[in-house]
Amino acid sequence: MGMLAKAAAIGAFAALSLGQAASADEDARLIINGEEEMIVRAAPPAWSPLPELLSGWLFRTVETQRLQMDDFENPGFTSVDSAWETWSLPEGSAGKSCADCHGDAASMKGVRAVMPKVNAENGELWTLEMYINNCRTERMGAESWGWNSGSMVDMTALISLQSRGMPVNVAIDGAAAPFWEAGKELYYTRTGQLELSCANCHEDNYGNMIRADHLSQGQINGFPVYRLKNAKLNSIHARFKGCVRDTRAETYKEGSPEFTALELYVASRGNGLSVEAPSVRN
Ligand code: HEC
Ligand code: HEC
Repeated sequence: MGMLAKAAAIGAFAALSLGQAASADEDARLIINGEEEMIVRAAPPAWSPLPELLSGWLFRTVETQRLQMDDFENPGFTSVDSAWETWSLPEGSAGKSCADCHGDAASMKGVRAVMPKVNAENGELWTLEMYINNCRTERMGAESWGWNSGSMVDMTALISLQSRGMPVNVAIDGAAAPFWEAGKELYYTRTGQLELSCANCHEDNYGNMIRADHLSQGQINGFPVYRLKNAKLNSIHARFKGCVRDTRAETYKEGSPEFTALELYVASRGNGLSVEAPSVRN
């Protein structure tokens, strides 16, 4: 970082009142329902700038952490239940439900862990939401769901839950490589009046306090995430939007090529951490 850039960054952080965190519990283990242990710390891939990969769960308060340790306490499960019903509900001109073609939702095991991925048919990078909407419009003759609609976010929770515990393992080579490069570029680009990049907060300052919040590595292995702040499940792209807005910048849209590429890059920074969805954060 050049001197001027550094001065600007320090200025920006002063405006955001960055401070040292009250020490987090370094030894916390995430065991769900007393039996399913999540990988919340992992060795980084060789290319990673991070010394260790840490789940966002580690950065939350003990009270918030506990909500994710028991599915009966986890408020995200109301959404999973409603998606269970949608799964076998016939919709659209074909009169078919997800279950008619996919069988039990358990058939989705492993899907979340490799998303987003390049669609072999068109060479585009597709997120889980895009695969779901493609089935709705092309295979069911039904309307597509809005990116942040309850139906969509609930369904991503149900599908992601089938991979819970599995390590995130997105492909970044081959056809995915150009998307990954584009996502990486966005991750390190400073935006907004505060001239901050994702990396300035989530790589350079995780573990520190920013305003009243304990900064994590900004991992997405827990998505969709139930946030106590807005009392609902939140999509990955909605979270990206919020973070970009916090730098007082114009933001990209949910489902845009920019956010899709960024999702791949951010997901790859967590390759090795468990899929935790639906997770609970503040
Ligand atoms: C008419 C049959 C049909 C229906 C109905 C259908 N799908 Fe699909 N779906 C497919 C086929 C075929 C594929 C591509 C092959 C595959 O991956 O199984 C697919 C792929 C997917 C994928 C990507 C899986 C992967 O590994 O890449 C997801 C996610 C998905 N469907 C979710 C849904 C959901 C959710 C619904 C209900 C809202 C649904 N599908 C309804 C046939 C269907
Ligand atoms: C000004 C600092 C700042 C910047 C810049 C920033 N974030 Fe964040 N981000 C936060 C804070 C604060 C939180 C909430 C605490 C936490 O989980 O780190 C957060 C949370 C997140 C989360 C949720 C993590 C979880 O476990 O639920 C993700 C994902 C995320 N950010 C991604 C990004 C991405 C991608 C960018 C760049 C487009 C970005 N952030 C830029 C401050 C920032």
